[in-house]
Amino acid sequence: MDDKIEVVRREALDAIAAAQSMDELQQVRIQYLGKKGSIQALMGVMKSLSKEEKPAFGQKVNLCKQEVTDAVAQRQKQLEAKELAARLVDEKIDITLPGDNITTGSMHPLFMIQQQLEDLFIGMGYKVAEGPELEQDHYNFELANIPKDHPARDMQDTFYVDPNTLLRTHTTAMQMRELEKARGETPIKLICPGKVYRRDDDDATHSHQFMQCEGLVVGENVTLADLKGTLEFMANRMFGEGRTIRFRPSYFPFTEPSVEVDVSCPFCNGKGCSVCKGSGWIEILGAGMVHPHVLEMNGFDSEKCSGFAFGVGLERVAMLKYGIDDIRNFYTNDLRFLKNFDRFD
Ligand code: PHE
Repeated sequence: MDDKIEVVRREALDAIAAAQSMDELQQVRIQYLGKKGSIQALMGVMKSLSKEEKPAFGQKVNLCKQEVTDAVAQRQKQLEAKELAARLVDEKIDITLPGDNITTGSMHPLFMIQQQLEDLFIGMGYKVAEGPELEQDHYNFELANIPKDHPARDMQDTFYVDPNTLLRTHTTAMQMRELEKARGETPIKLICPGKVYRRDDDDATHSHQFMQCEGLVVGENVTLADLKGTLEFMANRMFGEGRTIRFRPSYFPFTEPSVEVDVSCPFCNGKGCSVCKGSGWIEILGAGMVHPHVLEMNGFDSEKCSGFAFGVGLERVAMLKYGIDDIRNFYTNDLRFLKNFDRFD
């Protein structure tokens, strides 16, 4: 009988030592220590033994069981260490290898200009207003002192959805909404950047969709000198220190007087070059004092308050600032063009 225990013990210990993986060891454990395993089978043999033999035999089987259990635990530790070591070799990461290039997008140049304008005007206490692109005739034209027979209302210039609804042709529509909203209360100090639409044939300098940023200030004693100081500050911030501006008389139905504003050419410092066509000046925007009739129509007392307004084209600013020669570049989403701007913040 003792020989039988010894045979099972030897076999079990050999099988444990021979197991090369946790799976194999598990098989061995079941084979010897499981409910239907060889050691349990030895217990079954006890029934056939005499009363005197049973205790000694049982004790030996228990010892054998203990020894095999310990051997399994020990082998398990070895195999775990072995498998961990193998995994560490297997999953080794070479941190000296070059990384994958993750391509990131870049800011659209028009959005960059919009942000720069917002930053500089917020810094002067302006708020940024928004308005719908699908606009009513009332705000785009009527309140802006552009009567029904004005050429700007021509089907040639404006995208009409129905006789009273159109794609706004200028951000001045937002200016009118804000004036109406204020109900005669001053001061008003805001900019309204946004997309505008006109029925133009697209070419290098025309686009049927473009962006403007309108500025509007209304209060007591707001003068043309305030407008000039504000625009000169903007020109210096947008095109570099040392820029000067000049006003030329112009006409807009919603401002009186109205001016075109030129900035001294940033490329030649006003001496004359191909960009400014030898004049030393570049036209950048339209502006003027808010027409008293516009103030009155929107519920302001034009005897007590006055205001200035200006509208700048963002494409024009971006084209000058970054040397872009074709307005269509802004809208064709060519990555070769857009990628040029990832070096600007
Ligand atoms: N709305 C004018 C345009 O689209 C620009 C402008 C705005 C002029 C405000 C004067 C005052 O050309």
